[in-house]
Amino acid sequence: MTKNILKIEDLNVAYGGIKAVKGASLEVNEGELVTLIGANGAGKTTTLKAITGTLPQCKVSGHISYLGQPLKGQSSFNLVEQKLAMVPEGRGVFTRMSILENLLMGAYTSNDKAQIEADIEHWFTVFPRLKERSAQMAGTLSGGEQQMLAMARALMSHPKLLLLDEPSMGLSPIMVEKIFEVIRNVSAQGITILLVEQNAKLALQAAHRGYVMESGLITMNGLAKDMLDDPRVKAAYLGEG
Ligand SMILES: Nc1ncnc2c1ncn2[C@@H]1O[C@H](COP(=O)(O)OP(=O)(O)O)[C@@H](O)[C@H]1O
Ligand SMILES: [Mg+2]
Repeated sequence: MTKNILKIEDLNVAYGGIKAVKGASLEVNEGELVTLIGANGAGKTTTLKAITGTLPQCKVSGHISYLGQPLKGQSSFNLVEQKLAMVPEGRGVFTRMSILENLLMGAYTSNDKAQIEADIEHWFTVFPRLKERSAQMAGTLSGGEQQMLAMARALMSHPKLLLLDEPSMGLSPIMVEKIFEVIRNVSAQGITILLVEQNAKLALQAAHRGYVMESGLITMNGLAKDMLDDPRVKAAYLGEG
């Protein structure tokens, strides 16, 4: 039996008079890497913010359940306790703290020192660039390294669902490849991921399933490998055909 981790039904979000999300539904099952692709302004970030309950000024309707429980207006502290982790657009690492200190912040709900140390060692094997630089201030890292740190910090909380908002944004092609390598690796470890991306090709190549969002609507969804062959996806998002 596949276990439903996240289920969004008929989500609507309006910023004042502007409808950003218009009846979107999507779900993520345990162990899946699901990608939500779409152009700039489609409503992807708004959808993620609806999940984390960080849309204070907005009209939000619809139903979101996480681990079978309705999610509504949770504080971010509760989200960490519930093992829901988000790496926002633009990363948001603590720039005046070292890499190691950032990782410890990711584990702030735990008192188990041995476990925390083991987790840091584990994630250092996935993110070797961070290990080499563990005493360095996060603010001195490159954009790609900061993205890796933001992901590693989120993973320190043992998330049951990891939300990634455009991890490849603004990175060099080589760094983009590296970030996707890491995302595949994390997914292969069984961690459930919802990946928002504008880089549709790499996202669909990494994901099990995908959704396309256009102007606040989910217009396509399916197995990622089928979507890569879909003429509409090819024309609109892959620059082919
Ligand atoms: N804080 C905000 N106030 C008003 N409109 C917003 C705000 N944030 C996003 N929007 C609008 O909502 C729509 C969806 O934005 P967003 O969810 O950020 O899209 P995406 O992440 O797909 O680029 C866009 O038209 C955007 O201009
Ligand atoms: Mg966005």
